[in-house]
Amino acid sequence: MSLKAAAEAVRENAYAPYSNFKVGAAVRGASGTIYAGCNVENVAYPEGTCAEAGAIAAMVAAGESSLTEVYVVAQGSLPVTPCGGCRQKLKEFGRPDVQVTMAATEGASQIMTLAELLPGAFTPEHLEHGQS
Ligand code: THU
Repeated sequence: MSLKAAAEAVRENAYAPYSNFKVGAAVRGASGTIYAGCNVENVAYPEGTCAEAGAIAAMVAAGESSLTEVYVVAQGSLPVTPCGGCRQKLKEFGRPDVQVTMAATEGASQIMTLAELLPGAFTPEHLEHGQS
């Protein structure tokens, strides 16, 4: 199954009764295995989680800690861009040149790298330089 097919399939399972905006994400682990996740909302709105977070959690739960490719798809005609928090989450596990495909069910997709999506990311280097 392709990354695109995995993201599209998992999107169907998204739990989004509050926003009505179903999102699917798939990441390819360094082993080549694909991990998928969807957004899971909650009546206590801030407790909801993004599709990207679900896919990353599945990858880490399977024992992988590096991703090489990302695909995110949402309904509509505008390519979905990962939120700020998810950009940082993806950055934790991917090199700057990792490609993120942002897709829409009824429109063109767009590809950007992690570095383009999160310039000036907070990194372990910042932690090291701040430790006393
Ligand atoms: N959402 C994602 O799952 N991923 C994104 O990249 C953008 C936003 C979800 C969060 C929430 O459940 C819904 O879309 C509306 O913000």
